[in-house]
Amino acid sequence: MVIRAARREAIAQAARDLNHEAVVKSVIEVQIADVENADVLFVGTWVQGFILFAVRPAGADLWAPALPPLKGKPVGAFCTYAIHPRGSLRILGGMLAARGANVVGERAFHRFRPGAGAAPFVQRVLQSAGRAPA
Ligand SMILES: Cc1cc2nc3c(=O)[nH]c(=O)nc-3n(C[C@H](O)[C@H](O)[C@H](O)COP(=O)(O)O)c2cc1C
Repeated sequence: MVIRAARREAIAQAARDLNHEAVVKSVIEVQIADVENADVLFVGTWVQGFILFAVRPAGADLWAPALPPLKGKPVGAFCTYAIHPRGSLRILGGMLAARGANVVGERAFHRFRPGAGAAPFVQRVLQSAGRAPA
């Protein structure tokens, strides 16, 4: 599992609560071996924009194309936001798919409610990847 700083602990803890090992890394540190060793990836960032327009996954134009090939890996895409994520998840999902990800779940987290929804999101993604009981 490889995830960005934001909300990473809530997501990693939710996976550990389901008896999975969770490794947390910055998106700029991820190596090919990290991807190959993971059953499931959670990849996310914060949203950056002008609230009503140009709201995008922060920095993703730079870091997403530089990710190792994701080779069909099941991925849960997430973002954190303050007001509204708008199209950020769709954009991020598309960028991850362009790297070869099989995006099986998406979730936006409000900055002041970091843990809210992390457990069901993680459970759903793991189930979609066949890594958790239904
Ligand atoms: C320069 C800048 C632009 C931002 N633009 C938006 C925005 O357009 N919409 C929004 O909902 N939040 C926006 N935010 C808020 C961040 O997305 C929010 O603070 C972040 O998700 C918090 O994540 P963190 O707690 O993991 O750092 C912006 C923050 C910054 C610093």
